[in-house]
Amino acid sequence: MDVQAYFEEWSRLPGETVRMAISTGHERVRATLERIIRGPTKEDSDGVSRSFGVPIPGVDVTVVGVEQPTAIGSYAELPLGGVFGPSFALHFWFYSSVPSWGDPQTLVAAISDEGESFVLAIRKSELVVSVRGQPRELGLTVQPLLWYSAVLSVESHRDKSEVLVHIKQVKGLPGSAAVRHARAVLDGAAPRFDKLLLATRAISPIGSALDCFNGKIDSPVFFDRALVEEECPALHAEARENARLVWSFAEDFRSRDIREVAGRAPNGTIRNGAERAVTGRNWTGLEDSFVAAPEQYGAIYFHSDEMLDSGWKYNLSFGLPKDLKSGVYAVRLEAGGRADLYPLFVRPTDEGADVLFIAPTNTYLAYANDHFAASDMSAIMGHERVVSEDEAFINAHPEFGLSCYDRHQDGSPVRYSSRRRPLLNVRPHYPNWLTGSFRHFAVDLFFLAWLERLPHSYHVVTDEEVHARGSELLSKYNVVVTGSHPEYWTNKALTTLEDYALGGGRILYLGGNGFYWVTSIDPDRPWIVEVRRGNTGVRAWDAPAGERNHVHTGEPGGLWRYRGRGPNMLVGVGFATEGFSKAKGYKRAAASYEPQFKAFFDGVSEDVIGEEGYILGGAAGDECDRYDLALGSPAQATILASATGFGPEYLMVPEDLPTPMPNSDGPNRPDKVRADMVYLPIAGGGEIFSVGSIGFVGAMAWSGFKNSTARLLDNVLAEFVAGTNAARAKVETQPSSEAG
Ligand SMILES: [Fe+2]
Repeated sequence: MDVQAYFEEWSRLPGETVRMAISTGHERVRATLERIIRGPTKEDSDGVSRSFGVPIPGVDVTVVGVEQPTAIGSYAELPLGGVFGPSFALHFWFYSSVPSWGDPQTLVAAISDEGESFVLAIRKSELVVSVRGQPRELGLTVQPLLWYSAVLSVESHRDKSEVLVHIKQVKGLPGSAAVRHARAVLDGAAPRFDKLLLATRAISPIGSALDCFNGKIDSPVFFDRALVEEECPALHAEARENARLVWSFAEDFRSRDIREVAGRAPNGTIRNGAERAVTGRNWTGLEDSFVAAPEQYGAIYFHSDEMLDSGWKYNLSFGLPKDLKSGVYAVRLEAGGRADLYPLFVRPTDEGADVLFIAPTNTYLAYANDHFAASDMSAIMGHERVVSEDEAFINAHPEFGLSCYDRHQDGSPVRYSSRRRPLLNVRPHYPNWLTGSFRHFAVDLFFLAWLERLPHSYHVVTDEEVHARGSELLSKYNVVVTGSHPEYWTNKALTTLEDYALGGGRILYLGGNGFYWVTSIDPDRPWIVEVRRGNTGVRAWDAPAGERNHVHTGEPGGLWRYRGRGPNMLVGVGFATEGFSKAKGYKRAAASYEPQFKAFFDGVSEDVIGEEGYILGGAAGDECDRYDLALGSPAQATILASATGFGPEYLMVPEDLPTPMPNSDGPNRPDKVRADMVYLPIAGGGEIFSVGSIGFVGAMAWSGFKNSTARLLDNVLAEFVAGTNAARAKVETQPSSEAG
């Protein structure tokens, strides 16, 4: 792991230039390109990067190795439009998530060009001021997770500074006096300064926040004079008309800019992440969205471990051959006798093909660099938990950022993920401790291996492209195939898929837990996805109160099910259970033996299919979906096969279990804990075939795709590509002719 790299764009057209940012201590790095045509095997996890496919001639570039640092910790920079100090004052609100930490956490710093500063910080639950690096505790304690109104006034004379800090708890029932103040006389005058920093004492040479604050700051104002104690109550009561500079945090929530309302200073800037559209000091709870009550969302949340974009220089570039086929490729980077593979998606030019494989890149991003392995899920695992060297590396390197399955160090949820940073677990051979084999990107490579051995032409695109291009893209294909875990879909992409089916398109949903969480892509920075989970569903964290709406789009987050667009309505099946013990096979339903499905099951001799596989040893496992009329599964669908009999590690999902009940598991609730294979015909000729299991493709790939699961899907795909659904279409026309 001594070479780290990421792409400027991980999806490119043939003939386009690929640019990569590489960081390494090695003198040189050699880059070559290969087309991936096989899935991973156990032996691929041994750290030796074997080839996953076919080398592409013409790409062989060597670049000089450089080490590139990554800035972490979010902060805001507020220029003042002039030089001020040494006497000045500020009023703002703050909410500290972890005030007890031993390291100082900066609320605000006034900083001179020479780096001399005046700082107000929290350390060991106490407010501390410092002039030119000399700290002084004020004896004012701060509780976690409470809002305080704070006035900081500094009256500087030639060789000393008189400081007044006046705070008032503005919510909750105070355990000591709600209003308190402290004075201090410090040696030395405050510096003259032309900007304020929020949440950082200073900016490190590489751009990191130093002594970063963890928590929220709401709507500061600046006075170019010191204040007296008598003026503080009015400020606590929000009478701030006399301020010279006023920053509005409660507007333009998607922007990284902060407007100075009085028009006397340039815009401020938020750096290294930081979160907007979070509840402010005046949130009433009567509305739960920043869209409905923007004035109650005038806070910015800062985190010391935030990192969204590594910001490295792109130091490798090469052109893709003009005649390169669409597919999944890997750039092989070799240095110091080792090599690693970095996935690159080559999207099609305009001509179309039989099949379009949509690589679920939003899922890859939501899970990118997840620190899940630090948790213990042994209770729902059927194998020994082994944390790989790769996982341990992620846990040891906070500079590569967090996933939407993580929390920040202060316990607050991580709601953004970006592809402009090394994505350590999006690699062909990356092992997964939960399944004891593979998951996500590595598993999806089995789809490529499958498509490679069939006669149909296929192209590959990313979730991001489906979102960006919509129906114009999908309309060029006879069949669309999803990946193993297409969990994170945007509103626009869902509409695109639905329109495709309504327009006669054919969809193979060959995964599980699909179309689950509302996801958005930043319109200004499309390398960033946002996930604001709700308060039910299998979730890594809860949405904080009042913070379910996406800042990118304003739309409510959470499960698509609660937006009236659950997966059952779209593909016939929706999330039912998860577990990581032995997967099951699917037992064919009587309907699968009906003549209209003869072509699907041609050559399939077993009544139970998929009892072996690379993921948990079978076709139905990991996360599974069921057909359920009550959740909107269309009535005209036919269940062709079902997997039940799961072990107790497979449990009902919380959204199906509003009242916790014992025995809500595989052995006791086969009605809910199951995977259903479904055929869904749609008026207009569209067809959907859904399997409802993440592990399914691992069974298809078993013994070189020579098995009944692969045979079935070979048949279904051939039928879908040919569009010969006349016989099966009877299923949909029967009810209407009866009615007529
Ligand atoms: Fe999932």
